Amino acid sequence: MSVDSVFRTRSLGVASVGLPDQYADGKAAKVWQLYIGDTRSRTEEYKSWVVSLLKQHDVQRILDVACGTGVDSIMLVEEGFTMTSVDASDKMLKYALKERWERRKERAFDQWVIEEANWLTLTEDVQKPGNGFDAVICLGNSFAHLPDFKGDQSDQKLALQNIASMVRPGGILIIDHRNYDYILETGRAPQGKNIYYKSDLTQDITTSVLWVDNKPHMITLDYTVQVPEGPQSSPELSKFRLSYYPHRIDNFKEILTGAFHGKCEHSVYGDFKTYNPGQSQAPCYFIHVVKKTA
Ligand SMILES: C[S@@+](CC[C@H](N)C(=O)[O-])C[C@H]1O[C@@H](n2cnc3c(N)ncnc32)[C@H](O)[C@@H]1O
Repeated sequence: MSVDSVFRTRSLGVASVGLPDQYADGKAAKVWQLYIGDTRSRTEEYKSWVVSLLKQHDVQRILDVACGTGVDSIMLVEEGFTMTSVDASDKMLKYALKERWERRKERAFDQWVIEEANWLTLTEDVQKPGNGFDAVICLGNSFAHLPDFKGDQSDQKLALQNIASMVRPGGILIIDHRNYDYILETGRAPQGKNIYYKSDLTQDITTSVLWVDNKPHMITLDYTVQVPEGPQSSPELSKFRLSYYPHRIDNFKEILTGAFHGKCEHSVYGDFKTYNPGQSQAPCYFIHVVKKTA
């Protein structure tokens, strides 16, 4: 049985090349903005980890392939990097475009490139500078949005190859996913604060797993956020649902390094700290850093 016969994302919107855009009705995009909090308030730990990693690798030019509302890109534009930011969802991009417009008098924001692009057609959608970007980022559990409709991960492999092709030799890719190994074993997301977003809103996440042919194919997270009283609050706006492909760490490492044809150095972090398999504290997120060696 193929997965698309049993799975349908809640939102019926369709992004650029026929992929379901879970943010297309505009509601998830709006609640996502509330969920992540003020775009200027990234957690300090995340900000210093990512900025020092980028500086360590002499990065100047960055491609953010899942910029969403622009949260990571805004931080990196402010930190002086040259950003190209893309996303498949125009409903998400509109928040990034608004920020660029409002701050257009700042030179760095005036030069910020924002485009609509899909990982499956990235090489056509994005103009690669010379032999590539110094760094490509895909953060905030974004890659797991890409389903495996064919059941052989071929779309995910194609997307990763396209993303890897944007990195220049010697450059790096930073890509993350939630700790799905833990979610599949325990049926719930690891406890702990969201490492990325400094949102003050109380969050609750309910997890459900869709199995097809004895394999976990889709995980649905129902988020409930307590939106404070005010013009933005409504029961309607306090809940949203997103579905993800549950990448297991070992398999993800395999398809990721495969996208670089093995010509890479791979390391993995758990919540920004060196990850030791079997460690007692289960990380909420795994962050893979891949350096292209040729
Ligand atoms: C959870 S959001 C994260 C955005 C941002 N990085 C953050 O941390 O807030 C995931 C983003 O991935 C984008 N996305 C999902 N599938 C995509 C695809 N095939 N191509 C490009 N973007 C995609 C979605 O539109 C969404 O904006």
